[in-house]
Amino acid sequence: MEKKTFYITTPIYYPSGQPHIGHSYCTVASDAIARYKRLQGYDVMFLTGTDEHGQKIETNAKKEGVTPKAYVDKIVAGFQDLWKLLDISNDRFIRTTDDFHEKAVQKIFRALYDKGEIYKGKYEGWYCTPCEAFWTETQLKDGKCPDCEREVKWAEEEAYFFRLSNYADKLLKLYEEQPGFIQPDSRKNEMIQFIKSGLNDLCVSRTSFTWGIPVDFDPKHVVYVWLDALTNYITAMGYDSGDDSDYRKYWPADVHFVGKEIVRFHTVIWPAILMALDLPLPKQVYGHGWLLFGDGSKMSKSKGNVVDPVILCDRYGVDAIRYFLLREIPFGADGNFTNEALINRINSDLANDLGNLLSRSTAMVGKYFGGVIPAEQEHAAIDDELEAAVISLREKCDSAIDAYQFSNALMEIWKVIARTNKYIDETTPWILDKDETKKARLAAVMYHLCETLRIVSILITPFLPNTSPKIQEQLGLTESVLGYEHAATWGLLPADAVIRKGETLFPRIDVEKEIEALNELIPNTVPAAEQESAKEPEKKSAEASEGIAKIGIEDFMKVELVVAKVLHCEPVKRAKKLLKFTLDDGAGERTVVSGIAKWYQPEDLIGHSIILVKNLKPAVLCGVESQGMILSADCGEDSVRVLFADGIPAGSSIH
Ligand code: ME8
Ligand code: MG
Repeated sequence: MEKKTFYITTPIYYPSGQPHIGHSYCTVASDAIARYKRLQGYDVMFLTGTDEHGQKIETNAKKEGVTPKAYVDKIVAGFQDLWKLLDISNDRFIRTTDDFHEKAVQKIFRALYDKGEIYKGKYEGWYCTPCEAFWTETQLKDGKCPDCEREVKWAEEEAYFFRLSNYADKLLKLYEEQPGFIQPDSRKNEMIQFIKSGLNDLCVSRTSFTWGIPVDFDPKHVVYVWLDALTNYITAMGYDSGDDSDYRKYWPADVHFVGKEIVRFHTVIWPAILMALDLPLPKQVYGHGWLLFGDGSKMSKSKGNVVDPVILCDRYGVDAIRYFLLREIPFGADGNFTNEALINRINSDLANDLGNLLSRSTAMVGKYFGGVIPAEQEHAAIDDELEAAVISLREKCDSAIDAYQFSNALMEIWKVIARTNKYIDETTPWILDKDETKKARLAAVMYHLCETLRIVSILITPFLPNTSPKIQEQLGLTESVLGYEHAATWGLLPADAVIRKGETLFPRIDVEKEIEALNELIPNTVPAAEQESAKEPEKKSAEASEGIAKIGIEDFMKVELVVAKVLHCEPVKRAKKLLKFTLDDGAGERTVVSGIAKWYQPEDLIGHSIILVKNLKPAVLCGVESQGMILSADCGEDSVRVLFADGIPAGSSIH
């Protein structure tokens, strides 16, 4: 019988900067699903790649004085290396500069034009260069790009348009008839609102730059980067290439995993294009949440608060990072990435729960029975409960995975691990060992531990692909009992398995020391001006008004000053000069770091109100992100005084 296929994709990433932990998040998630489906026996196609055209890449390359292709080649190699490091099992890697892709995109563009789905017109609008997106006046947020909140500029060009406006009803009908098409549901509601607010035709060509796929019948135009990018999901399968056997085998995709910020492209534009081409639609688009950095800002290249996955893998091992990404944050939701949370997870779940279970179990089998569990075993009632929990685990994992809830799958597995550790405490093998008449009972206990670990080792493979073979090796197991079909049957651990304690799976980490070491690794991203003022406040005053240009009121009004109340204040570890504040700014809480530890103790400040520069760009100081600045006066003679605003309500604006 032919195997059932399963086709999963990640977004194809922009090689406009080094890959960071955010890209790793979606790729690791997709990898876990691909591996799980393979384990279940599916014929899996797992695709990832890079989205290499567009103005931003062209501009970056120009800045470096290299060709766009040379520029992306280097970064793409970095993505590929990272996926190797993270044990990503993608079957294919598509680059939109691949020749077969470019040719197929040209054919698709022409086919849409021939069908009248694309027509020539003129484009005017607000353009966001980093996002490669045009916006209408009403879509702008405070005059800026609603996606990335950066400056937009007015742009005008002759262009080709895709008749997206014809698809509003068809898309709404799609969402209704295929309720799982957009997941989670909250994202579906956003898309329904978006469509109901009116769809315009979509500009699908550009003449303002050349780094793109030329429209073959009108080559001064290049194909809009999103049309180019979205079609990767079919071109990578050989669509329109002469050999479309994989396309016929794998398309439609079972799921596109994408970050929530690009759900719109995948659930509005992409299905409309496929409808226009009369092609089947993907079964589902899953919009996952963002990894946030400590205090709620999105981790991104442009903000510079990037956690380097290579450094983390180096220190803790690939599986620890994979585990954290998959376990910590429910897929779909946003979640914080902090080094503390990472280390705590490694210590509690991996070193303590799983690592200890394995090392205790294998050590005891070695000590009590020389590594081979005797066949003569005496069953007890307590064993039934453990067995039941273990053999029902696979089904629980399956349903969590079907809903793409890795954290739930892992939670279920770890419940069994915790139950098994408790089983050791309840059965007290060290006491059984002292009693010659209890040997058969002791053997049964040992068998239950190792058999549980056998099943656990199978079910964790998709998530921890390096750890599971290590466990299996220590348990002396061979493939014949390690398939998916062996994960819901009790009693397959062979009687002659030779069990021996091996190396520690996850060494415990000293949290305090490690955090200190990590803080040293974080590049100092404090803006130069701020470092200056933190270092030498005394010098500033004398020169203060010299050489500083006069500003108009409109410049001053750009500074948002408000009264804020100090809710909490504490020293920043390893940074003698810094205090970390939690402030109530009237609208919510925010964290601010200030270099005034020399002059104030935290308790001098808690409860007081101060003046906050609210719209200062965030900066990371010794690993803490500061979202603003507290005003203080430089009183000369190495003395700095905070300007208090006690008695004025938090949030009052100052001008
Ligand atoms: O949007 N948290 O590429 P991109 C979680 N080329 N996920 C994150 C993340 C974070 N902080 N940062 C990035 C593009 N991601 C287009 C896609 S597809 C046809 C074209 C992940 O390099 C997340 O999956 O900006 C997000 O959607 C993707 O990287 C965006 O990568
Ligand atoms: Mg992006």
